[in-house]
Amino acid sequence: MSADDTIATEQRYILQVYPRPGFVLERGEGCYVFDTEGRRYLDCVAGIAVNALGYNDPDVSHVIAEQATKLMHVSNLYHTQPAGELARQLVERSFADRVFYTNSGAEAIEGALKFSRKYAYEHKHQNKTHIVAFSSSFHGRTMGAVAVTHREKYRTPFAPVMPDVRFAPFNDLAAAHEAIIDDVCAVIVEPVQGEGGLSVADAAFLQGLRERCDAVGALLILDEIQCGLGRTGALWAHEWYHMTPDIMTVAKPLGGGLPIGAILMTQAVADTIHPGDHGTTFGGGPLVTAAAQVVFEKIANPAFLEHVREVSDYFAEALQDLASERPEILSLRGKGLMRGIQIDGPAAAVRMAGHDVGILVATAGEDIVRLVPPLIFERQHVDETIDKLGQAFDNMRR
Ligand SMILES: Cc1ncc(COP(=O)(O)O)c(C=O)c1O
Repeated sequence: MSADDTIATEQRYILQVYPRPGFVLERGEGCYVFDTEGRRYLDCVAGIAVNALGYNDPDVSHVIAEQATKLMHVSNLYHTQPAGELARQLVERSFADRVFYTNSGAEAIEGALKFSRKYAYEHKHQNKTHIVAFSSSFHGRTMGAVAVTHREKYRTPFAPVMPDVRFAPFNDLAAAHEAIIDDVCAVIVEPVQGEGGLSVADAAFLQGLRERCDAVGALLILDEIQCGLGRTGALWAHEWYHMTPDIMTVAKPLGGGLPIGAILMTQAVADTIHPGDHGTTFGGGPLVTAAAQVVFEKIANPAFLEHVREVSDYFAEALQDLASERPEILSLRGKGLMRGIQIDGPAAAVRMAGHDVGILVATAGEDIVRLVPPLIFERQHVDETIDKLGQAFDNMRR
């Protein structure tokens, strides 16, 4: 089938909620993807911050092929070995005592919100139902997740979404104090915002939220779906802040491209969730958790994280140099291998110009180009990124 036929078929039969470019991706290798015409693209999207180990990691491919021949799914009615092993690894390398598996980020958010309400309910705090979220937040597309997502266009057409949500300005601790009062059962925040524009939480803000939550008896939920699992150069983004949450949501890179999310929680939270309170048919299945064990072991390796930090520093400097030469760049944001370039114009134009010069970049809002490459990025990939972004900007000027 030709690329044109593939695109026409998709456009005829698939619900059109994503604008897609005019090529068809066929395979990937390392930090590159290739289309059906053999064109190569340096990938700074990585499946939207999913493909941390790039494409075709031999260990991930091997474990998936092997587990597929043993057992792919039996449901959570039965014990299987990979789910428990992965949970042990996650608990041993985090603040958490317990793990609940989901199939996506949004589902992890839904569970985290439910567990927060249940925690308050079990403690007989009947009116403690409010959730505080922040400006420019993005937590997913399900009813609870959109309710705590700031951008109106994601909420208003679907109203009424989950009630009892209060928004406060991100990085404004005084305003957060006013919003986090006795009726609040949980506060949800991304340490580094993803879709909302790559803003990084200040240390005083995140630490202040922790203290305020403790003062009013609210749970602190950190959404590390995009910024966790090595993306910032630490295993968990909150490690930079020397504090821990009560609940953390993770997803994107954990399954090496297979769908998985997880809710990590303290024992105090776990103690309020009982058999039958929550569930999932597919979550934590043996195929995806076997793959995730391999992914997690690699990402959690201190040498791997050191590499991410080293390349991130090089990336940050290279972007600074680019910004100093390019008047169209208004500001730089982000942390680790999660970078935002605010430009004077629509970010979508850079994304499109990138395709012609062989680079994939994402956007975050109207004017921010988002770069979330595989964590196996090397200095040579950074150089190529800067070069290709320069070419893309040049082509846009013409
Ligand atoms: C911070 C954050 N939370 C939640 C989600 C939702 O995850 P999913 O698309 O897997 O439902 C995303 C997705 O981009 C995200 O970046």
